[in-house]
Amino acid sequence: MEQLAINGGPKAKTTPNYPMYPGGLEIGDEEKKQVLEVLDNKYLFRYYGPADCESKVKAFETAFAAKLGARHGLATSSCTGALISSLVACGVGPGDEVIVTGYTFFASCAAIVAAKAIPVIVEVDETLTMDPADVEKKITPATKGIVAVHMRGVPCDMDAIMAIAKKHNLIVVEDCAQAVGGTYKGKYLGTIGDAGCFSFQYHKTITAGEGGMVITNDSRIYDRCMSYHDTAACWRPDRFAEQRYEGELFCGSNFRMSELTGAVMLAQLGRLDGLLADMRKNQKRIIDGIANTKGVKVRPVNDPEGDTGICLMFYLDAKEKVEPFANALKAEGVAAAGVFNAGIPDWHIYAHWKHIIEQKTPTPVNCPWECPYHKKSEPVQYDPAMNPNTLELLGRVIHMDIPPQMTEEDCDMIVHAINKVAAVLA
Ligand SMILES: Cc1ncc(COP(=O)(O)O)c(C=O)c1O
Repeated sequence: MEQLAINGGPKAKTTPNYPMYPGGLEIGDEEKKQVLEVLDNKYLFRYYGPADCESKVKAFETAFAAKLGARHGLATSSCTGALISSLVACGVGPGDEVIVTGYTFFASCAAIVAAKAIPVIVEVDETLTMDPADVEKKITPATKGIVAVHMRGVPCDMDAIMAIAKKHNLIVVEDCAQAVGGTYKGKYLGTIGDAGCFSFQYHKTITAGEGGMVITNDSRIYDRCMSYHDTAACWRPDRFAEQRYEGELFCGSNFRMSELTGAVMLAQLGRLDGLLADMRKNQKRIIDGIANTKGVKVRPVNDPEGDTGICLMFYLDAKEKVEPFANALKAEGVAAAGVFNAGIPDWHIYAHWKHIIEQKTPTPVNCPWECPYHKKSEPVQYDPAMNPNTLELLGRVIHMDIPPQMTEEDCDMIVHAINKVAAVLA
């Protein structure tokens, strides 16, 4: 048994750790060229400018949707805006309940509230994505839809989720914020439900600092998303109010993407396959290296082929082991951390969503929770302990990012560190 670095031994990993900005760290000549074109043309708004130019946002939407195999792409200013627009477009509104998991960035849940519906929070299973069995249990006459979050880069059990949705006539919005380029049984994530939503915020695989996208195969959902994301699509050049069909014309918000963002994203999209290949290669090398490590169980994945490789998550057999294990890994030079600790706030775990748990609203009317249109007799209520499986699983898991910039040597040192620490502490 080797002496752990935390006890004075030599570090297993002596190379520096990259921050997790996969596409961000690669920003280079192509992004500069695209952005300079926008600036040189003074064409900063997608619908008009002093010169007649092709919109970068439009070009990005077209290229993104084509790459993923969707009929429509609609660029937005964020994934939160994409989620709100999609939910509204799918017909979610006052009185509806929408199911979401308790392990996601809380924006997935907040978007439901912003669409004036009531979030119902279900358990994750060992994959740390939506547990279909718990979804079935929490369906009520008021349930309108499901937000399926492909959390930390891996696909939900989409066969089971789509079967439940079909049985109960629910809409499905896929939250692919953390899983761009991921697949499920050969289909790109975001193309399986009614709509798929993506984030290009700086921590995401491809990025312009901020940004989002909706993809859908349904032209009506696209038109309604278009309306909601752009104050009734007032700049849409191809039809004015009179030409809109019933259900297309209504007031919306402004979640439009700017041409500068579209320019950066066009260049970043060209990097997606390379980034995914590098993260997947690194992830595989590490997982292979710890496959037989006693006391460590790598998170199972619904379709391992579809994992984007953005991270490594593994379980220990007791939550008490997590903090010492993570501290020992850090001392070895590996940037790893536990995921759930009731005392440490984290916006990704429902037990910390005080604004949801306590139903905080900007006015005393308490919309959407006290809604005369809510079809269920009892009000929806929340408790930090209501999803024990989620907390139990997250309490035993260790997480580390897998930057695409990592080398094979980095990966081998991480394997060495995990094996060294597991031999003493797992
Ligand atoms: C799962 C998930 N959904 C939604 C969002 C919101 O994305 P954005 O910041 O682009 O609004 C994020 C951002 O981190 C996320 O991780």
